[in-house]
Amino acid sequence: MSKTDATKAVDEAITSRRSVRAFLDMPVPRETVEDILRVAAQAPSGTNMQPWRAYVATGETLKKLTTDVLAAHSDGSFERRQSWKYYPDKFFEPYLSRRRAVGLGLYSLLGIEKGDGVRMHQQMGRNYLFFDAPVGLMFTIDERLEIGSWLDYGMFLQTS
Ligand SMILES: Cc1cc2nc3c(=O)[nH]c(=O)nc-3n(C[C@H](O)[C@H](O)[C@H](O)COP(=O)(O)O)c2cc1C
Repeated sequence: MSKTDATKAVDEAITSRRSVRAFLDMPVPRETVEDILRVAAQAPSGTNMQPWRAYVATGETLKKLTTDVLAAHSDGSFERRQSWKYYPDKFFEPYLSRRRAVGLGLYSLLGIEKGDGVRMHQQMGRNYLFFDAPVGLMFTIDERLEIGSWLDYGMFLQTS
């Protein structure tokens, strides 16, 4: 089967995607961010409810947000309110091994020894800095919605 250039471009976008945990300090034009979200919003959703909301933070707003959240993470005042269950209470195979493999891989690349709680906590804090990205995107879903809408929400996130 020969693929069209458009199909190849979509394949390339999917297969070249990876988690990036370091960013250059280069501004991203507002139009680029708007374009990403406009395209992502073409994701399908059950009964076209489009159950997602995106917030974009840059510059001083991003700095204040990340500083405050990181401070709360560091001094332990970070209060997690989770109105949904994210993971099972106890992990099981084959997921347990996969989780361990990615954790070990990440920490060994970063030179963090097993059991080094301080550095693990610091690395977790990098999440709250958006890994120094110049743009922070935050996505939310109305918590009154149910699992079907979470599927839609996930499709929107993937397309972003
Ligand atoms: C919902 C979700 C949450 C994640 N949380 C984190 C995280 O807190 N810290 C992190 O470094 N990576 C996080 N990741 C990235 C995953 O570890 C990563 O997607 C997975 O290891 C596969 O690697 P890849 O994205 O480079 O293909 C998350 C990914 C998803 C989809």
